Amino acid sequence: MSFAVAIDGPAAAGKGTISRAVAAHFGFAHLDTGLLYRAVGAKVLEGADAIEAAEGLRAEDLQAGHLRTAEVAQAASKVAVIPEVRAALVDFQRAFARRDGGAVLDGRDIGTVICPDAEVKIFVTASPEVRAKRRFLELRAAGSTMSLDEVLADVLARDARDSERATAPMKPAEGALILDTSELTIDEAVAVATKAIAARR
Ligand code: CDP
Repeated sequence: MSFAVAIDGPAAAGKGTISRAVAAHFGFAHLDTGLLYRAVGAKVLEGADAIEAAEGLRAEDLQAGHLRTAEVAQAASKVAVIPEVRAALVDFQRAFARRDGGAVLDGRDIGTVICPDAEVKIFVTASPEVRAKRRFLELRAAGSTMSLDEVLADVLARDARDSERATAPMKPAEGALILDTSELTIDEAVAVATKAIAARR
């Protein structure tokens, strides 16, 4: 039996952490769809054509070590506005969502475009300042020397590009639970998501 959980929201709102935790809790598979766009963005930084990179994407490409950098994040949000890039990635994501045993997908358009019939839809958000602080600490732990102000500017630029694009703009899906994590601990945010999923099972 399939059971799809769609978790969308802006950069560093907590989607990844919440998705991994609820997937482990319910024994569901998890797909971080941002990695698909990051892998395409990384190939473009190496000189590839964006559409060809998306059409030829392989599972190994998602393992590349540098996909979490701020530079790749910006490149990802630039390729993500290209309709042909998005189209090339749809079938893989839809098949993942409907695999046997349940699936959690996190991204920007899971509840709106990829899986509008998901059993549970959650839009995870937080204030830009809180998100920038979280991403700043993550990047610093990974060796980045970016300042908090630079990270905030990056997050705001990506938010604008992701929500203003014509194809699959980031926005809460109809019927999505809005989960603002600005004032919540990780455990509290995970508990809200877990409860919402348990209520639908
Ligand atoms: O981890 P973070 O939230 O910062 O970003 P991500 O989820 O890895 O996504 C990187 C970029 O990919 C986003 O800024 C979007 O432009 C794009 N993306 C998208 O367009 N649609 C998705 N389903 C997932 C990511």
